[in-house]
Amino acid sequence: MTYFRENVEKAKGYEPGFQPPASSIEYRVSSIVKLNTNENPYPPSPQVTNVLAQITAERLRRYPDPMGYEFRQAAGEVHGVPPEYIMCCNGGDELLSMAFRAFCDEGRPVAYPVPSYSLFPVLAKLQNCQAIEVPFDSEFNLPAKLASTDAALTIVCNPNAPSGTFIRVEELASLADELSGVLLIDEAYVDFAEANCLPLVKNFDNVIILRSMSKGYSLAGLRFGYAIASPDLIAGLMKLKDSYNVDAIAIALAAAAIKDQKHFKENVEKVKAERTRFTVELKKLGFEVPDSSANFVLAKCTNCNAPEVYEKLVQRNIYIRYFAHSCLEDKLRISVGNPEQNDKLLSALKEILKD
Ligand SMILES: Cc1ncc(COP(=O)(O)O)c(C=O)c1O
Repeated sequence: MTYFRENVEKAKGYEPGFQPPASSIEYRVSSIVKLNTNENPYPPSPQVTNVLAQITAERLRRYPDPMGYEFRQAAGEVHGVPPEYIMCCNGGDELLSMAFRAFCDEGRPVAYPVPSYSLFPVLAKLQNCQAIEVPFDSEFNLPAKLASTDAALTIVCNPNAPSGTFIRVEELASLADELSGVLLIDEAYVDFAEANCLPLVKNFDNVIILRSMSKGYSLAGLRFGYAIASPDLIAGLMKLKDSYNVDAIAIALAAAAIKDQKHFKENVEKVKAERTRFTVELKKLGFEVPDSSANFVLAKCTNCNAPEVYEKLVQRNIYIRYFAHSCLEDKLRISVGNPEQNDKLLSALKEILKD
């Protein structure tokens, strides 16, 4: 006996990466090295701290601006589009959930390449829509078959998670042109890449871009993401959002963060420099590591057993991510931390590989 719809009852739900149970203060002083959920190792803009310090309880008494205009305006200026092209979301994940509800049902499938973000199949189950999973090749090139699925919604994560690989903007423009349905380009990690698909929203009325404030802007705890798309698509998606889907504090802090492009760019450059060093060091240990355009790398074990290495790292209080997916069984996804965190991980790996 269950009260739930059949597909909800059968769904497993999304499994987030491990979050240590300690409070944030204990957590910072603890010896845990947390490289499992692609958080930014550097703090957000000092402007975020300033705005946070000025928020009074009075601000909380009133409902927030339902559209988050302050953020839409600021993001529009950064991206060179009017605010009507932007919709605020409670994390990029909320946009994904809205897109499934907006475009998919029993007769309207979703399509995406695999392996990719493990939330996509979970949302498909919950929405009771068919998920057309088109395998990537071993180099994570865009699968040609994706253009001919007839899906109502096609999602491409670029840079892809968990591979970190990047598909050229021109290829995604051709895909948008060929599809009869909507193309959602999940750019949660694009801040760490050399290009992005922003220009596509001006040329295609079927393209939605997902952006997140969790990675490049160091605000994973705030829960703030946004959509960029043609005003018609944004207006349609707005119908699905909760009346006040982003809170007053989140709007103010996300706006402060996106306005401080200098801090953002400096942070991103630090992560990219560390990504280069970290990749070289992992290769010296015998891992195969494709070039990453994200703030994580996917390291393939050539001389070790990935789940065993994962477990041995957990025993040392070091958390990375292992996915028991058929083509990821020999791989470990590791967020790029600060030099100290990365060095701790590298030393632990050296020890483990000697065992
Ligand atoms: C590929 C991908 N897309 C979207 C998101 C959503 O990010 P958030 O909800 O934190 O903005 C994540 C989070 O890890 C992700 O990995």
